[in-house]
Amino acid sequence: EIMKDKNGIDQAVLRNTRGASVQVSWHGGQVLSWKTDRGEELLFTSSKAIFKPPTAVRGGIPICFPQFGNRGLLEQHGFARNKIWVIDDNPLPLQPNDSNDKAYIDLLLKPSEEDLKVWPHSFEFRLRVSLAADGNLTMVSRIRNISCKPFSFSFAYHTYFSVSDISEVRVEGLETLDYLDNLCQRERFTEQGDALTFESEVDRIYLSSSDLIAVFDHEKKRTFLIRKEGLPDVVVWNPWEKKSKSMVDFGDEEYKQMLCVDGAAIEKPITLKPGEEWTGRLELSVMPSI
Ligand code: BG6
Repeated sequence: EIMKDKNGIDQAVLRNTRGASVQVSWHGGQVLSWKTDRGEELLFTSSKAIFKPPTAVRGGIPICFPQFGNRGLLEQHGFARNKIWVIDDNPLPLQPNDSNDKAYIDLLLKPSEEDLKVWPHSFEFRLRVSLAADGNLTMVSRIRNISCKPFSFSFAYHTYFSVSDISEVRVEGLETLDYLDNLCQRERFTEQGDALTFESEVDRIYLSSSDLIAVFDHEKKRTFLIRKEGLPDVVVWNPWEKKSKSMVDFGDEEYKQMLCVDGAAIEKPITLKPGEEWTGRLELSVMPSI
């Protein structure tokens, strides 16, 4: 089902037979909503989000490409999330592990003249967003170098999970890893072995994690599972009180209801030679926890 939002931007709503749904906007190729078969929203979107391009929408799953954060000369998190994507009329074939009971949409981003001025590399970025019969949300990004020189980029699926109370949330799968702390001049630290909990601002990049991360929401009694491929790093971000107040498109108290945990490739940028393609895959699932 394809429709227009109030700014005239196309959006697709994917539904499975049980009634779960995923909403995808052509603006940024961004997933804006992921709902269970009981209609519960699993992703956070700010009540102050601005839906007018070129501003990126505060919530859902913005895609950071070709730069993560301000680690380079481009605008924060790169330009992909600010652009209007198009339907991919020539999508790549399904992957062997893609079952065909999925609802899916294929979008495409190619650089505009303007993009080439700031990042002079021709690429095709194909994004497939799919919703499986079991309600899992999968995003597959395939980025191809169609220029005649190599290029490098960093990447993140900047996933805003909706949580009931950040102080009751625990993240597992990052224990003992090294991380770069954006709040401390990107200094490198080592996690001391406990599951991650939250009591102040967090802005970190965990390096070379396993491909399974869990986010436990004790109050809601639910657990998100993040499975990733081609995405060695994990960003964990919560702006907490002070930073929340400084963001125009974010409510002062909303930090309590969200946590960003991104599958990403940041520390070691991806380099593609002419004709080469990279794939980064993220699968999100949710289950009740005890
Ligand atoms: C995080 C960055 O991933 O994204 C933070 O590490 C940043 O430093 C946050 O504040 C949000 O970025 P933006 O551009 O969407 O406000």
